Amino acid sequence: MATHPQTSAAASCIGRETVRVDGPLKVTGVAQYTSDFHFAGMLYAVPVGATIAKGRITQLDTATAEKMPGVVAILHRGNIGKIFRSISGPGFSGICEERRPPFEDDVVRYYGQYVALAVAETFESAKAAADAVRATYAAEKPNVEPHLVADDEPEEVMTTFGPQKRLESERGDPDAAFAGAPVKLDQTYVTPIETHNPMEPHSTTALWEGSRLTLYESSQGVVNLRGVLAQMFGLPPENVRVITRFVGSGFGSKLWPWTLCPLAAAAARQLGRPVRLVLARKMMFHAVGHRPRTQQRVRLGASVEGKLVSLQQDYIYTRSMLDAHHEGCGEGTPFQYSVPNLRVTFGRARRNIGGGADMRGPGRVPGLYAIESAMNELALQLNIDPVQLRIMNEPKIDESKGVPFSSRHMVECLQLGAEKFGWSKRTPAVGSMKRDGLILGWGLAGCSWIAARFPAAVSIQLRDDGSCRVASATQDIGTGTYTNLAQLASYRTGVPLEKLEVQLGDTSFPEGPISGGSMATASLVNAVFAAADQAIESLKTVAVSAPGSPFANHKPDEMSFDNGALFLKKEGPAKTVPFFDLLRRANLRQVTGNGQSPATGGDENPPKFSMQSFGCHFAEISWQPEIARLRVSRVVTVIDAGKIVNPLAGRNQIQGAVVMGIGMALLEATEYDPQNGAPINSSLADYLVAVNADAPSVEVHFLDYPDKELNQIGARGIGEIGLAGIAAAITDAVHHATGVRVRELPVRIEDLLA
Ligand code: MOS
Repeated sequence: MATHPQTSAAASCIGRETVRVDGPLKVTGVAQYTSDFHFAGMLYAVPVGATIAKGRITQLDTATAEKMPGVVAILHRGNIGKIFRSISGPGFSGICEERRPPFEDDVVRYYGQYVALAVAETFESAKAAADAVRATYAAEKPNVEPHLVADDEPEEVMTTFGPQKRLESERGDPDAAFAGAPVKLDQTYVTPIETHNPMEPHSTTALWEGSRLTLYESSQGVVNLRGVLAQMFGLPPENVRVITRFVGSGFGSKLWPWTLCPLAAAAARQLGRPVRLVLARKMMFHAVGHRPRTQQRVRLGASVEGKLVSLQQDYIYTRSMLDAHHEGCGEGTPFQYSVPNLRVTFGRARRNIGGGADMRGPGRVPGLYAIESAMNELALQLNIDPVQLRIMNEPKIDESKGVPFSSRHMVECLQLGAEKFGWSKRTPAVGSMKRDGLILGWGLAGCSWIAARFPAAVSIQLRDDGSCRVASATQDIGTGTYTNLAQLASYRTGVPLEKLEVQLGDTSFPEGPISGGSMATASLVNAVFAAADQAIESLKTVAVSAPGSPFANHKPDEMSFDNGALFLKKEGPAKTVPFFDLLRRANLRQVTGNGQSPATGGDENPPKFSMQSFGCHFAEISWQPEIARLRVSRVVTVIDAGKIVNPLAGRNQIQGAVVMGIGMALLEATEYDPQNGAPINSSLADYLVAVNADAPSVEVHFLDYPDKELNQIGARGIGEIGLAGIAAAITDAVHHATGVRVRELPVRIEDLLA
């Protein structure tokens, strides 16, 4: 069964800087995003959002809107038709961050909650009609209070992914160890609600043919979306097809379905025509997720030499009234450092806001901001270099699970980062470093991200024209999955990249992973290889049976496959026949292989290894106190994420994450009006994200140690890790330059004008 191409052409495909195979389609406008698909008779829908955040709808006046030109219907609770709830299924299916179907009751729980849907012949008519719907409310004062106190809840609470113990991790006696520690730190760190702002807003188009529903959706998980829709409309899953060819990014907001999908599908069912619903940027702040606000108390106890003796993290985050997204800020804490006594707990605080959601590096990004900030503050207190403090507390194993790491090179990350950044030239005194008349601040932080696999299935065809087709119901959300799959298939089959056709984003393909958790590539490697191997096995049967085949009268197991061609093992690769030659002789268009790869954590209990990626960021800021101008001027990032399949796209992922981290540190925060509960900076003019002008030089280094515990080439994931830790590096640099310690993000100019 083993077929391991070793020739230079195929082997060098992995780890080679590879331009995106879908690049030409995107830059020429051929790539079809969800709202580029047009259908005869298609209608346009615009939702009406509640203008209160708490209360009841007492009256909905649709008469004026219904009479407007081009309007087909105003849908609401009274006429939308039946929409069922969905529930999580076995494994990883039926996931949804807002369970309540649209219009299920008259209760308003957050600002912008959909209360009606205007459907018209044109987008403009639908928008005008939506604006003309008059809702009357019995409004109550909403709770959008930023200070968080944990709700009174049991020790185990229900979350989107199932029950979760509020005592997340514990070892030793952290209280006694903290009390007895000669050096103590006790600080609280706050991160605001952040809103995902992908370039492409959420977009959905629903079509019915009898009892079959097709949904074009900008989704990070078509298979899960199919499962949710099948439940909501009472259909067998095979009657639902979800298509997502290209995605203008998602950052987690498109991982799980939101209520716009069933709204469009219900409208299309009701009206017997295709219905398109694209959210306005303003609506992106209401009902398609956000990163919850977090408030994290961190207590560190250490010896005077800098050895950690106790670590406690007690955090609270916001949740919506009904739903239970878990912002697991403690996920990376128990194994980041060696410490004998540790406790991590969480609580939640309900607010009148939409459902929270995964946002790039959910949990760990705010969590490591707090932990890494605390470590930097402790280093200052101890008068120990922060790089040295981390190296001193480097764990040998994952002390929370009592198992080794599959591959951890954190110390090497820190040492390489320090060298590339020039850290040894740092003078620690506040304001002591200057360049070109600017005060410089230098800071660093460590980072980590989970490495795991989702279940994945892939089909591969080797075809008589020498091409290879790879298909899987996963998605490319802009991160490079089309290219990665082409590289993996090329590596295993020897078919050159330009002869590879990768098809993604369609539930009619074998079930692929969500584009989430930075796990798509790692999940797909073994499945691609298994599919390729099966196709090659099938080819061997063809080779021995095809008329006129040079391999007639041999047995399949006497054959070997290398670099796109078959040969007899005993004769060696000198006399090879290309696979397409054999297919042509046999009058076959193609041979097909289907490959599967299971999720991690399935059979092994307890796990033999702790699998994580690691890294660090070194950041430089410049500070001009005369005009209060703060800029991030330079970042050096080192990432230990296993084998990097495509260093070009990989570096691009980390650079993008670092730029997003500049936004997290200095700009991003969703502000809610305490009167009506509205997110008030709900536009790209008012909700600031880091843009090109904010981006410094970002130097990225990969260590490139294959992690073979995870898959055959040892690739982990790189979408999210780049955002973890960066805000802590920047805030420490801000302190170094200005002497101001900011513990509530983002750092605002007002904070620095002491
Ligand atoms: Mo990422 S938050 O898993 O899309």
